[in-house]
Amino acid sequence: MTRRRVVDLTGARMDQGAALIVRHALADMGPGDEVRVVGDDASLVPTLRALARALGAPFTVEADGACVLGASTHPDGRRTGGMLVPTAPADHAHPRWGLAARGTLVEAGGPEFAFPLAEKRAVWTDELARLYAQAAAAQWDPATAIPWAEPRCDDDAVEAAVVQVMAYLVENETAALLVPARFCAQVHPHFREVLQLLAIQTADEARHIEVFTRRAGLEAPRGPGPAPMPPLSTVGGQTSLKSLVDEPDFALASFLLSVLGEGSFLSLLRFLDRYAPDAVTRAVARLAAQDEARHVAFGLAHLERQTALDPSLRPQLAAAVHARHDALAHTAGLNAEVFDALVLIAGHQPNRPAWDPVGIATGWNAVQELIAEMDAGRQVRLRRLGFSGAEAAALSALHTRNFM
Ligand SMILES: [Fe+2]
Ligand SMILES: [Fe+2]
Repeated sequence: MTRRRVVDLTGARMDQGAALIVRHALADMGPGDEVRVVGDDASLVPTLRALARALGAPFTVEADGACVLGASTHPDGRRTGGMLVPTAPADHAHPRWGLAARGTLVEAGGPEFAFPLAEKRAVWTDELARLYAQAAAAQWDPATAIPWAEPRCDDDAVEAAVVQVMAYLVENETAALLVPARFCAQVHPHFREVLQLLAIQTADEARHIEVFTRRAGLEAPRGPGPAPMPPLSTVGGQTSLKSLVDEPDFALASFLLSVLGEGSFLSLLRFLDRYAPDAVTRAVARLAAQDEARHVAFGLAHLERQTALDPSLRPQLAAAVHARHDALAHTAGLNAEVFDALVLIAGHQPNRPAWDPVGIATGWNAVQELIAEMDAGRQVRLRRLGFSGAEAAALSALHTRNFM
């Protein structure tokens, strides 16, 4: 049965939002229903005629000057042909959903967005919400979380070793920032949890770059006297990182970066936390390691789900390790300066000179243990992705000697 609703706008002004009352009255009316509007504003008729045109609603003016708007098409023409974005993540995100929030109705006729990562299976893990909440709660402030005023190591050789390691960390952290930042812009925003996680991971890396740069003191104003030898950034290190930054596939990039690279870095940061010669180095290593553990957890969870859904991904992951190994075969891998610096740091005993043979032997053994620990960690994570023990051992051995 046709309903007719009367809206009395006597005293209301059309240029002060009175048309909104008419739109509201039309909103829950069905096909054939009408809204009759009376009022005394001189612009009542032209305003409501324009509104009816915009809504695609029939419009008549009656003898007494009242306007009648029909709801014969749809209460809001803009909604006709719209797409409802599901509230839960869909298997495939439609290009027309664009930037719209889940649970909204996307008006017809809008633009299509070309987000390359629009399949749930390519980006999703059920761990996302938990990992994002953990990351949001664990953000730390570099200005206050690090005891910057604490003294540096008073042995010049050990201090130079710390600076070399920090410079090495900065370039690795920069690769770790660029990779999630690039994929963040490729994931369909329908999977907002993935965007949020990649964004907060990028912010983590921004902090790591900041604190390692600051601890290295490379950008600090220099006093008088000869400048110390600058730390080295090597061909081998940057070539290894370039192969990571250039990897175009999300699954392969997160495998190489998070599962293998950041996984190895977890061991390195814990090593630095343990052997740091000063409080600042210890604090930056410890805080970065906390963040890295989450990055590794996300990479693993995402790939665990993806390899379970698509077992053909596993040989692709293995092929990526082989291809990267072959591409880097002609490079030195970890630069000797970083290796030596780690030996000096781990072997240093207060009140002993840095180059003391006992200290060097201690440091050497500690670095061998570190490399073995990195290898064992990689093998554990590879087995979690379904590789056999033998496959995991072989793939771990082919991982870049640059660690990342
Ligand atoms: Fe990092
Ligand atoms: Fe990271």
